[in-house]
Amino acid sequence: MNVNGRGRVSGKVALVTGAAGGLGRATAVRLAEEGASLVIVDTDADGSAETERLIRDLRRPVTSVLADVTDEVAVKKLFATALDTHDRIDILINNVGGGTSGHIWEAKAEDWDFIIRLNLRSAFLCTREASGHMRSRKAGRIVNLSSGAREGTPWTAYYTGNAAYAASKAAIHGFTRHVALELAEYNIAVNAVAPGPIETEKNSKRMRAMEALEYGPVRATPLRRLGEPIDIANAVLYLASDEAKYITGTTLAVAGGR
Ligand SMILES: NC(=O)c1ccc[n+]([C@@H]2O[C@H](COP(=O)([O-])OP(=O)(O)OC[C@H]3O[C@@H](n4cnc5c(N)ncnc54)[C@H](O)[C@@H]3O)[C@@H](O)[C@H]2O)c1
Repeated sequence: MNVNGRGRVSGKVALVTGAAGGLGRATAVRLAEEGASLVIVDTDADGSAETERLIRDLRRPVTSVLADVTDEVAVKKLFATALDTHDRIDILINNVGGGTSGHIWEAKAEDWDFIIRLNLRSAFLCTREASGHMRSRKAGRIVNLSSGAREGTPWTAYYTGNAAYAASKAAIHGFTRHVALELAEYNIAVNAVAPGPIETEKNSKRMRAMEALEYGPVRATPLRRLGEPIDIANAVLYLASDEAKYITGTTLAVAGGR
């Protein structure tokens, strides 16, 4: 909230994908704290219900949609529902992503396809729907989730491998940059946040176990600790707010100095 008691995204309608947990939930709640109305999307009904509850506790309007954002028809329906309910979408957060493909010498083609689809097709489909609407209003903000993995992650590479994920997150950077150029004349800003190792409920055990390893994430991170979901939520909030109105086409690293 600013000194006038107004939130940094007061009155805005924000759609957050993958908001049933992790960074998506933290982002949706942070946007609600700063005055936004929310449309949250996920395939996880229980997690979505909990995020919905947290937003209602803040007395902000929230619509929860269960949908697979890699499915073209489902995404069209999602945006139709969001626009029916809220009349407009000011902010789109393409947060859905993840997946693991193993070391390159044994990676399965179907895992490669799944990861590219999950991370990239989801952002493409949602951005296409949002941009049509935002162009007509000559206003909008889109924030995509890239990753430190866009340049390769040493501990993942060494211990497990995941080239598909790295490739998809590098592609998110290129996608962000290009779409920002296409949409600039319509006053739509498109940026990305690239998190480093962020501890979430889901990955906490795995992340903590890696701390003991020689090339683990904490030792490879100059700030010598894992990040928290709020670190990402605050960066996304900034890029989604008017404070960032002269920033577009940028990927902001939130990675403890890596
Ligand atoms: N946590 C990290 O350390 C980290 C680091 C770098 C980048 N990221 C990126 O940040 C984003 C969020 O990461 P996270 O750790 O919170 O992930 P997460 O796996 O905890 O959450 C992802 C959410 O997306 C939902 N989801 C998955 N597939 C979906 C689909 N097809 N349609 C709709 N919803 C779907 C899941 O149910 C889940 O709620 C991802 O893009 C991830 O790649 C995370």
